[in-house]
Amino acid sequence: MATATVRSAPVKRPVVKDQPLFIGGKFVDSVGNKTFPAIDPSTGEVLCQVQEATTEDVDRAVKAARKALEQGPWKKTDAADRGRMLYRLADLIEKEAEELAALESLNSGKTISDSRGDLQAVVNTLRYYAGWADKIEGRTVPVRGNFLSYTLRQPVGVIGQIIPWNFPLLMLAWKWGPALACGNTIVMKLAEQTPLSGMRVAELSLEAGFPEGVINVLNGYGETTGHAIVVHPDVDKIAFTGHYETAKIIAKNAADTLKRCTFELGGKSPNVIFADADLDKAVDGAFHAIYFHGGQCCTAGSRLFVEQRIQKEFVERLAEKSKKRKLGDPLDPSTEQGPQVSQEQMQKILGYVEKGQQEGAKLVVGGKRFGNRGFFVEPTIFENVRDDMAIARDEIFGPVVSVLPFKDFNEVVERANNTYYGLAAAIWTKDIDKAHTFAREVKAGTVWVNCYHVVDTSTPFGGFKMSGQGRENGEAALEHYTEIKTVTIKLS
Ligand code: NAI
Ligand code: MG
Repeated sequence: MATATVRSAPVKRPVVKDQPLFIGGKFVDSVGNKTFPAIDPSTGEVLCQVQEATTEDVDRAVKAARKALEQGPWKKTDAADRGRMLYRLADLIEKEAEELAALESLNSGKTISDSRGDLQAVVNTLRYYAGWADKIEGRTVPVRGNFLSYTLRQPVGVIGQIIPWNFPLLMLAWKWGPALACGNTIVMKLAEQTPLSGMRVAELSLEAGFPEGVINVLNGYGETTGHAIVVHPDVDKIAFTGHYETAKIIAKNAADTLKRCTFELGGKSPNVIFADADLDKAVDGAFHAIYFHGGQCCTAGSRLFVEQRIQKEFVERLAEKSKKRKLGDPLDPSTEQGPQVSQEQMQKILGYVEKGQQEGAKLVVGGKRFGNRGFFVEPTIFENVRDDMAIARDEIFGPVVSVLPFKDFNEVVERANNTYYGLAAAIWTKDIDKAHTFAREVKAGTVWVNCYHVVDTSTPFGGFKMSGQGRENGEAALEHYTEIKTVTIKLS
């Protein structure tokens, strides 16, 4: 989500080899040698075969993580040295950023400039948490009686981390950074659509000096591999990013062992444009808000509230820009939008476009698959949308925006909040009164004023309502990766 560096040199197509699992510091095949294919979403072709972790493999990974936590050198590693390992990992990733970005684009369909931006954010995140490692402190607490009480902040334990495909390496970094800074060990499952880049970073983690078993990386499907992590009795916590329906299943399955869970679950974020805004910037902002990474972004500005008196001009300008957006090969630096990640996602988006039209919304531009190879969808704008239509309620996770005109401030705040989501919101105005009141009233974990998709590793990120539980990034994440222990000593 960081700003990308624009470079125009052509990008070499990475050579991809079959993928093993990473368990206990070793690259291994799955029990039974089960595999599944990794796909190039810009062509639909198979890139390579990937080892699929079975329940037994999950158990091997959890055992390795438990051993590293309780018996290995990790337990005795000084906090400052945990930080040094994270710094080293960040350096190694930075050195290989071009190759990793190319791999990310090949497998996820992200444009190469977006992947470069992601890689910078990955490095920033690891460095940010490297700095935290030796600053996670307990407190001395004044208590009644002649006692000394203090608190220790200790790792939660073995952390099961389940991530999606839209920001494969960035989601990895958001989860590894705080977990490792706090001294936990990890069993991570990458998304089945994007099983490649995380495995390369697993290799780099060994070079960075993380002892065997501290980090374990698996591939496989959610209902099998993911499920086995969730129900494993020796996993202490689940950190998940994905759909809220999946989170509901995970929460139920984690209940038997009362695992701690944190969830980051997407949104239907309101992007509110007032007539007094700088309209050039607001048009560009609304465009970026919805089309960034083809709309496959949890914070996508998919409900575009526009003050009625500027609606016509605003939509015309947005539509003009949309028609000019360049779709194509994500590895071509001139491409502005790559394919959606999978056939399933493309079909989901096109299904919503159809539903929008059936429910009476008016298609202004786009609405179709682009080309006949790969999983591309045209930038799409709907007008005449009612708040209760499916396209205005559900997360589409594609380049599809609903324009919703409004007349006044109170009305738009109420409508902005009339959603089961609450991840992000934005307002475009020159009036500081409106801006701050909106920021206070809107139910969302992140609020942007005159900007969009600005996410920094040092600020907390997460959602209200069905958008999640807990926060990632910033100091806030550390709370979810430590247990607080109270120690009380009788003084004579
Ligand atoms: P998903 O929630 O099914 O998958 C996310 C991760 O969870 C993947 O690693 C998957 O293998 C795993 N998973 C799935 N079922 C599981 C289970 N029963 N137990 C344990 N792990 C499980 O999301 P999916 O199917 O990739 O996308 C569907 C929709 O979810 C998207 O269209 C979008 O609306 C939303 N989504 C939101 C994301 C966000 O950034 N908040 C990211 C990806 C998807
Ligand atoms: Mg799913």
